[in-house]
Amino acid sequence: MKRAVTPGTFDPITFGHLDVITRAAQLMDEVIVAVAASAGKKPIFTLEERTVLARQAVEHLPNVRVEPFEGLLVDFARSREAQVLVKGLRAITDFEYEFQMAALNYQLANELETVFIMSPPQYMYLSSSIVRELASFGSPVDMFVPPHVAKALRDKFPD
Ligand code: PNS
Repeated sequence: MKRAVTPGTFDPITFGHLDVITRAAQLMDEVIVAVAASAGKKPIFTLEERTVLARQAVEHLPNVRVEPFEGLLVDFARSREAQVLVKGLRAITDFEYEFQMAALNYQLANELETVFIMSPPQYMYLSSSIVRELASFGSPVDMFVPPHVAKALRDKFPD
């Protein structure tokens, strides 16, 4: 049984995240989408809101579940007896940060394997921060996020 954790802040979840999660779900027996508290990033959605939005976005994937977590990712992954961390990689700009995180997580828990899934070209530029910025200016974001997330963004940034 291969259980993977796909961590992130998911503020909010986008089609880019969903692409990685969907492909991870095809490779692994079970995938846990781990929504980090990430208090230092001052997310616009609460941890609970981000968890609910992610949960609704993956409800069609039977081997995927969503859980919030606080603290270290490796502690969460160990507590769920996961063997793999799956991260998405977009452009080369992601590499430095992800390389650092993978090395650090290896130091902390070398039984956990970090696996990277490359974003397809149409999502290379997509990020939650771009989606938040567009939504804050009233721009439609329907091509980047599922309908329920677009609605949550409209509610967060009323005209
Ligand atoms: O979507 P993000 O914000 O790029 O995801 C980053 C995340 C949540 C994966 C990363 O910040 C993380 O693993 N946070 C949990 C705390 C932790 O384990 N930090 C690494 C050691 S300092």
